[in-house]
Formats: sequence, C-alpha cells, structure tokens
Amino acid sequence: MDYSIKSGDPAKQRAQCLVLGVLAGGKLCPPTALVDEASEGFISALLKRGDIEGKIGDTLMLYQVPGVRAQRVLLVGCGKAGELTASAYRQIVAAALPLLDKGHAADAVWCLTDPRPRDLNAYALARDTVLAAEDSLYRFDDCKSKPESPKRPLKKLGVLLADPADTEPASLGLVHGATMAAGVRLAKDLGNLPGNICTPDYLAEQALSLGKEIPKLKIKVLEEKAMEKLGMGALLSVSRGSRQPAKLIVMEYRGAGSDDKPLVLVGKGLTFDAGGISIKPAADMDQMKYDMCGGASVIGTLKACSELRLPINLVGLIPASENLPDGAANKPGDIVTSLSGQTIEILNTDAEGRLILCDALTYAERFEPAAVIDIATLTGACVVALGHFASGMMTGDDKLAAELLEAGEQTGDRAWRLPLWDEYQKSLDSPFADMANIGGRSAGAITAACFLSRYTKKLTWAHLDIAGSAWRTGDAKGSTGRPVPLLTQWVLKRAGLAE
Ligand code: BES
Ligand code: MN
Ligand code: ZN
Repeated sequence: MDYSIKSGDPAKQRAQCLVLGVLAGGKLCPPTALVDEASEGFISALLKRGDIEGKIGDTLMLYQVPGVRAQRVLLVGCGKAGELTASAYRQIVAAALPLLDKGHAADAVWCLTDPRPRDLNAYALARDTVLAAEDSLYRFDDCKSKPESPKRPLKKLGVLLADPADTEPASLGLVHGATMAAGVRLAKDLGNLPGNICTPDYLAEQALSLGKEIPKLKIKVLEEKAMEKLGMGALLSVSRGSRQPAKLIVMEYRGAGSDDKPLVLVGKGLTFDAGGISIKPAADMDQMKYDMCGGASVIGTLKACSELRLPINLVGLIPASENLPDGAANKPGDIVTSLSGQTIEILNTDAEGRLILCDALTYAERFEPAAVIDIATLTGACVVALGHFASGMMTGDDKLAAELLEAGEQTGDRAWRLPLWDEYQKSLDSPFADMANIGGRSAGAITAACFLSRYTKKLTWAHLDIAGSAWRTGDAKGSTGRPVPLLTQWVLKRAGLAE
C-alpha cells in the first residue's frame, strides 16, 4: 500500500473514504468536529441518536455526508480520550482497516491523528499506523488455488496531520513503518509456508534473492560439507535424520566502516520439527512448520535494516534443518561434539533447537560482534510461562536486557525477562558428556537458555524465546512476523536513528 502525509481541512479531502474518530461518551475528535461543522451537525445528530458510541472497535460507515468531498465517511470509536495509548491505537487501526479494504474504498484519508495517543510522538504515530495497518490487512493465500481477494482493495492511505510541524517526523515514520512492515510480511510468509515448500534450501534461496536485490547485503550459504570441515557436530547431528541437507545461511550487511563491530542475529531455522526419535504427539504437529520463525525474523530484519541503508554492520546467521525420525537420526543417549569442542549427551532428540543454535553461536565469534541476539521458537515451557503476548528474554547483560525491553515497548512487540541464574545450570549435568541437552522438568525455558549460555561466554549475548509470540493459534492461526519490529527498532537505536 501507498502511504502519504496530508494536510488541510478534512471536509475538503478528495478521497473515496474519510476516516474520522469519535470518543467514548459521544465526544468528537478535533478533525471530526470540523467535518461536523461543515456538514451542519450531521455527525453529532447521529451520535445523539446513539448510532455509534465511541468504544474502541465501534465503526460506522456513512454515505453521502453533506458538506464533505469524500465519497464515504468511516466513523471509528477511539475510546476514552484519557485512555488513548499506543496499544489502544493499534486496536483502533486494526478495527478500521479491514472495513476500508472490504468497503470498496481504494483510497482513504486517515484523520485519527488528533488527539495523539499519549505515548506516541508524531514519528511513532505514523510508523505505528503503517505497521498496524499492514498487520491487519495481511492475508496468506499463496497456497490457495483460487485466492479470495477484495474486489476493490485499499491501495492508498493518506495520513492527515493537524500540525505542519509534524510533517517531517511523520514522513520518516511512514518510511520506517513501511520498511519494517515489509520485513514483518516476509517473516510471516516464510512462517506460514508449509514444511514441504519452506525447506532449509528454500530459506537459503530467499536469503540469496534478497542479496541480489539489496546493495551491501552479501549472502553466503554453508553446505553440510563445509560445516563438517568446521566441526559443527551438534548442528549436523540434527540434520542427519532428514533428507533435506542442512544449510547455514550467512547474511552480511555492511552499512558502516570495516572496523565497526557488527551486531549479529542468530535465528533458529528448523523448517519442520517432528521431534526426531523422541517424536512429538500427532495433535497439532502441523504447527511445527513454524519452528523456523526465528530464522524468518532474522531474514525479515536484515531486509528491513538493509533497505533502510542503516549506517551499521549487521550479520544474520540462520542454521536451517529439519528434525525427523530416521535410521540415521540422533538417538537418546547419543553423544556429539559441538564446534566449541564441548560434548553433548542428547537425552531428548526433540530438544534440537539448542543443538543447531550452539554451533551457530560459536560460529558468530568470528565476526567479533558488538552484541549477539539469538531468536528461537525454543521451548513449549516459554509458552506455558508467558503465553502469546511476550517473547521470553534471557541474558546476563543488564544493559542489553534494558535495550531490548525498551525496543519491544516502543514497537508493541514486547519481551519479558526471565532469570538466567547460575543455580539453574546444574540441571544440565551429564555423567557421560560435558552437558546434557535437557534439564529437568522445571524451568524449561530457562534451562534451554542456560544451555545456550555455555556457548556464548565470549559474547555480549541475549536470547529471545519466541515459541509463544511468533504465531497465533485458533481461528486466526498464522505467523505474526514477530519479533521483527523489536529487532529492527533495536538496530535503529544502535545506529543512532531512534530515541
Ligand atoms: N520447537 C520446539 C519448541 C516449541 C514447542 C515451540 C511448542 C512452540 C510450541 C522445540 O524444539 C522443542 O521441541 N522443545 C521441547 C524441549 C524439551 C524436549 C526439553 C519442548 O519444549 O517440549
Ligand atoms: Mn523440538
Ligand atoms: Zn524445535
């Protein structure tokens, strides 16, 4: 969709639809009051009759409103003025956009910028408008033989600003929002694709094609032979049970000088997780096609950051593999040697994410990174602990923790920190190898992070467990594209381009 900034009298906007806000209790937002005047009280009369209350999620499409140039007016409830937060604003966008898309309006002017949500400046308001709009309009129908799309979808959205001083920051917000949203979209598409299409090779091809499009983004794909030579015994032990060869996808964006230490993102790219010999139950196993969402979020973030040409160096590493039962697969009790030299007793072949990640994390050392974040749908325990709203974050670095938490707050893509105390490490003890690949029954998200921490001693590192946040279950099931907004915001801040 095409986004632009508009100014002037809302009643005089030429558009197929004008979007206006009403507050709870029948109060009009300032642009709505202007239109009400131009229409000689048409809107306030409707409110008096109680046709719309102004609660968040309320909507009413009006036709032939007198005194207004636009063909239609969409009234949208914005709730109580004092309670208009960023999170409420995102719900408002999500309520309004599908109606525009289905309501035959190919272009619209959005006047819900006044009053401004209290925790958003002009830049963030514009950016959030785009992110929330694109999120609510997203559909995945690549695999339908006859996709159902709206007859006249929304193609242009003008964002009307009351204050001309907001034009510059809001324009930047639209550009950043659209670029971040494109990264989110790519991550969603990759997550939603089934395991028979989105294989390790497919992920590698996606990265390679981004590398062809975007200057300064170089892609290298390590094949199994190269990984064997390096000694990535943990990663290769997982792919041994699969007919799809593993790949280690290396994405390098160089937007700064060569002596600038890069940020490194490591994403779990497990394109289907059946559990291996420790096989998962059949019910809902289809959901394990999402087990590459960490990798997809790295590809999406690299796309966004490199398209924005950020003055920073950024590396994405995606260990990609399947985890299937097979005669050659890992067996419980097997002991493998990781790239770091540490040996691992595999007590449960379903704890495979940490096995592919640990070798990728050791590989990250060669980039001499300023900081490393790994992103993984790592544990069901994290979903039990935090549900689908927050990504679990674990790190021993308080400064990095604060940065990531803030980036999550600023984008509505929130994380919550869990402890990574030494006391938890003991559960990984093994009598036969340097460590086991699982802890006990308790604190599964934390013991998984403890495992990874043994491979990041030389790094400034944080781990994001996105098992809950990366996709939705139920009727609206599908990939969320998270945490691309959080990661992109974090990189923007590290590049000195965001507050
Ligand atoms: N990919 C799963 C984690 C997962 C589970 C993500 C459910 C989303 C929803 C991971 O590879 C896994 O199987 N983890 C095991 C670890 C256990 C064997 C210690 C788990 O969480 O059950
Ligand atoms: Mn697993
Ligand atoms: Zn997994």
